[in-house]
Amino acid sequence: MAKIIDGKKVSSDVKNKVAQQVLKLKEMYNKVPGLAVVIVGNDPASRVYVNNKKRACDMVGFYSEEYALPEETTQEELMSLIEKLNNKENINGVLVQLPLPKHLNESAVIEAIKPQKDVDAFHASNVGKIMIGEYSFLPCTPAGVMELIKSENIEVEGKNCVVIGRSNIVGKPMAMLLLHNNGTVTICHSKTKNLKEICKSADILVAAVGKPKFVKSDMVKEGAVVIDVGMNRDENGKLCGDVDFKEVEPISSYITPVPGGVGPMTVAMLMKNTLTAFKIQNHI
Ligand code: GUN
Repeated sequence: MAKIIDGKKVSSDVKNKVAQQVLKLKEMYNKVPGLAVVIVGNDPASRVYVNNKKRACDMVGFYSEEYALPEETTQEELMSLIEKLNNKENINGVLVQLPLPKHLNESAVIEAIKPQKDVDAFHASNVGKIMIGEYSFLPCTPAGVMELIKSENIEVEGKNCVVIGRSNIVGKPMAMLLLHNNGTVTICHSKTKNLKEICKSADILVAAVGKPKFVKSDMVKEGAVVIDVGMNRDENGKLCGDVDFKEVEPISSYITPVPGGVGPMTVAMLMKNTLTAFKIQNHI
């Protein structure tokens, strides 16, 4: 039987700490961190994520602005909004919800965000800083995973860590953070041979593939720590992760559920990053 890591509880602890600091900052400087969230188009999942981000801002006491732009927004319109937000005094973090509609150039948009306000840590300059271990922000989902691992005092040093998935948002930075913590890291992807065997060698297995119930019990070592970054719908339309929880839970030592595992952590770490951005911009 695995210990189920409670992402709701850990994320709530992170947000409470941020909220306490916001109160102090308000008292001392008479201002609070501000986050601008931009969403383009009508993707229902993105809408839910953006609503969660807004709710978290209210909970921790941030100022927030939301820009919901129509699907047909042009590159120029979006770039000019980012420029405006880059220069806005009361906005410390700028987040453009991804994915963007196909006609928009996602990487140009990310690169247009001022690195000091890039609370997603997607800008090439922030990604580079993560590579060399000298960063101000960590991307929210991998940072949230590390927080979950730390909340249970799970040792990463010297462990075989396997990350399934190589996205810029999760897989690649996740591998880097595990490496910074002295894990021995393997990244698997759709072209990996012997995927099952490699996953079975993992002491810590992070699934970020985007395929419902992809990780089965024959891919997991007895006693492994299993972290599920997936957010999918199963054949009945029910929310599920990349891990077949029912099969894998009995053989793992720790496991994150979906929902209630990594998901809430992403938003909590965004709050933490926005607070950091505010402090840096105000030389605090
Ligand atoms: N889409 C899925 N995850 C994320 C995220 O962490 N940040 C942004 N901006 N978009 C996302």
